[in-house]
Amino acid sequence: MPQQDPLEKGKALAGAEAAEAVSPGMRLGLGTGSTVAFFLRALGHRVQGGELPGIVGVPTSQRTEREAGELGIPLSTLEKVGFLDLTVDGADEVDPELDLIKGLGGALLREKMVAQATRHMIIIADRSKLVERLGTRSPLPVEVVPFSWESHLPFFETLGARAVLREVSDGRPFSTDNGNLILDCHFPQGIGNPSGLQDALANRAGVVESGLFLGMANEVLVGGEGDVLKMTRKDASAACQNGDRL
Ligand code: A5P
Repeated sequence: MPQQDPLEKGKALAGAEAAEAVSPGMRLGLGTGSTVAFFLRALGHRVQGGELPGIVGVPTSQRTEREAGELGIPLSTLEKVGFLDLTVDGADEVDPELDLIKGLGGALLREKMVAQATRHMIIIADRSKLVERLGTRSPLPVEVVPFSWESHLPFFETLGARAVLREVSDGRPFSTDNGNLILDCHFPQGIGNPSGLQDALANRAGVVESGLFLGMANEVLVGGEGDVLKMTRKDASAACQNGDRL
């Protein structure tokens, strides 16, 4: 039998463990990416086995909508369900505070909208996603409207970043599910002040959203070769920043 790549095995273990956190009747946010695909498969297995009556999922991308639909997971929309009991999503980087960079899969805006409607957020990842400082492994994806996107490049330079327009294989710009563009922002020393950067981006017209997810994850399941490490946010009051207000 062929050996499974250790990182793929970690993703599979984390995804399977997250699927066990789902109970009947839950309203779920369904993240996007290759790690989430393992979660969806395990969740679909439980749904097909009749273990999870009444659950409904809100997908964060067209990709996830297709994958979950094929697995028989009942789907709905954020406006119909109002709030979510649990969201399971992947990440590109996880720091020791459980702050995240997300969006290499291009779904960051819908992922953040779903996360902010969620009472509890579980991130699933393999070990390669753990970093001491955000921005050291992955660029920061920033979704911008197409209009005059080049005008942001000097702005990102003032923030210490080199911003690169994301392209698909034939050289055309990558277009998000929302019809926007992604600038992948490279910080040579990593991101020293994530919350300051988040504020600066929130105040910039033409920037739709960034892949910084600060104070949103309640727990992170890190899949290894044979086990899953569970990291829990230390500041419990910050953990429920979203759902508690709903
Ligand atoms: C999607 O836009 C991203 O936020 C993903 O959650 C992230 O890129 C992780 O993807 P993988 O699980 O494929 O690494």
